[in-house]
Amino acid sequence: MFEKLASQPSDPLLALIRLFKDDKRSDKIDLGVGVYRDETGATPVMRSVKAAEALLLETQDSKSYVAPEGDTEFLDLLWDLVCGKATGKHHAGVQTPGGSGALRLASELMSRSGTRRLHLGLPSWPNHSAIFTATGLPIETHEFFDVEQQEIRFSSVMKALSSAQRGDAILLHASCHNPTGATLTSTQWSELAHVIAERRLVPLIDSAYQGFGAGIDEDVKGLRQIIAAAPEALIAVSCSKSFGLYRERTGAIFAVAETQSSAEIARSNLVTLARTSYSMPPDHGAAVVRTILTFEKLRQEWTDEMNAMRYRLNDLRRQLAKALSAGWQMAPQIAAQQGIFSLLPLSEANVMTLRHEHGIYMPVSGRINVAGLKAAEINRVADVLKPLLG
Ligand code: LMR
Repeated sequence: MFEKLASQPSDPLLALIRLFKDDKRSDKIDLGVGVYRDETGATPVMRSVKAAEALLLETQDSKSYVAPEGDTEFLDLLWDLVCGKATGKHHAGVQTPGGSGALRLASELMSRSGTRRLHLGLPSWPNHSAIFTATGLPIETHEFFDVEQQEIRFSSVMKALSSAQRGDAILLHASCHNPTGATLTSTQWSELAHVIAERRLVPLIDSAYQGFGAGIDEDVKGLRQIIAAAPEALIAVSCSKSFGLYRERTGAIFAVAETQSSAEIARSNLVTLARTSYSMPPDHGAAVVRTILTFEKLRQEWTDEMNAMRYRLNDLRRQLAKALSAGWQMAPQIAAQQGIFSLLPLSEANVMTLRHEHGIYMPVSGRINVAGLKAAEINRVADVLKPLLG
């Protein structure tokens, strides 16, 4: 049987983890996979997570199944955190294995409900198109970001939507765009909300970096504008980065609908899709998030930790932009971008030179994980980047 299959290439982003690990150079620098790192290069378990885990260890009295849709308290708390208590929108949530699980269920739901095409701005996280293609969802791409100019091509986004019709969907990044760090202005969010409502498009909003951009509430302002305007929406939430729960695979998919009965139909479909795939989501990460968001002291601790991560990132962005500014005109944009990523105009050959000659690791797209920088290394990194960017 297996000999009939073609061998599949490994995911280039995830393959970087192994390549970096196997590099024996002591001064190597990992700007690859998107995880937050502290000044020592570690991705520690957050203090609030440790405290929630201690509480769970003490109080959890069963490992029996939770429910087909997962932990409903977690879902309610996460909805409030992302979408806000006051939306008044009819919605249904299903807990998923990470943000990728949420995107997969969303994509299957869209395919099942006859979505004509999904508009996808490029560049985007490579797994987006891979997931949508895997479920047979037709994709139509448009330019979102000009890497050379380091700016959003908003006119190209609006042009793509000018031909969109009812039955079309559009993928939006809530904040901290992966891979560009580019941030829509509130006017641009309003324009998007307007066209989405007018044409009755379904926004699929990927929210994976809440808190890393401008603030925990600030990072979902645009998303909330869209939800308020759109008749229907899908919101894929990842807790991997914001709660540092990467390997626990914690996330949710929310369906926003015009009536509660329509939201319930969406929920029943999402639950069926999950049941025939992995049955039920893993519990631990969701239980941790529920505990953190329930207890004021833990919630405050998490907020403080999230804020500290953002301050460090912003500081690194400023330092990198300054160090690059002597050799690269677009450097100030790096400081203005948000989240853990920026996308540099580097060729594949440039990326290989950085990797092989300097031990600096990033995907071939030229995306850098700013959190992978240590303050003391910024000048060294800038010195090798400048001749390639200038
Ligand atoms: C990334 O973009 O590096 C992260 O979201 C990790 C992943 O799964 O690709």
